[in-house]
Amino acid sequence: MDYKQMREQLKSRLKPSRFLHSEGVAETAAFLGERFHLDIEQCRVAGLLHDCARQYSDKQLQAEADRRGISYGEVDKAKPLLLHAYVGASLVMEDYGVTDQAICQAIFRHTVGGAGMTELDKVIYFADMIEPNRDYPQVEELRRLSRLASLDEMFFAGLVQSLNFVIKKGSLVHPDTVTAYNEILLKRAELNG
Ligand SMILES: [Fe+2]
Ligand SMILES: [Fe+2]
Repeated sequence: MDYKQMREQLKSRLKPSRFLHSEGVAETAAFLGERFHLDIEQCRVAGLLHDCARQYSDKQLQAEADRRGISYGEVDKAKPLLLHAYVGASLVMEDYGVTDQAICQAIFRHTVGGAGMTELDKVIYFADMIEPNRDYPQVEELRRLSRLASLDEMFFAGLVQSLNFVIKKGSLVHPDTVTAYNEILLKRAELNG
């Protein structure tokens, strides 16, 4: 399936606002990919399809995850919407002909992060937070970082934003987000001796 076909199929499955968001993430991911010298096509496809399982309800997501034998933790169980990332990673292979595992992984990790995030994983995670249709108080500061900061600095700011957001809401913190956050700090400590 070429990009145009992926786009058409996605458009037919997502509600218009979600499709618009997906296109925004694809463009932002391509911009970041260029800035950080990554494979731009990979960034664009992962960005476009990252929310391809987002049309499912919580109940459907659980059923789709269970049907595929996807294992998930307590927090995902309590917040089934998070499953759209894991189900999406399978769906791109099944329905969109994606065979590139790096793309699948970036989609798998786009909502909560994970251990050993690759450059592509970080780009998709961050592009999802700052694409042009996003609107929340801190988004301009994050967009500024997307033009100026290093990839790790930028990604770290994204993690802090996500953690602050869920904590302020009194919501659950996903352990994979904490892992990604700690990894950056540990790497920094190592670099600073
Ligand atoms: Fe998502
Ligand atoms: Fe998204």
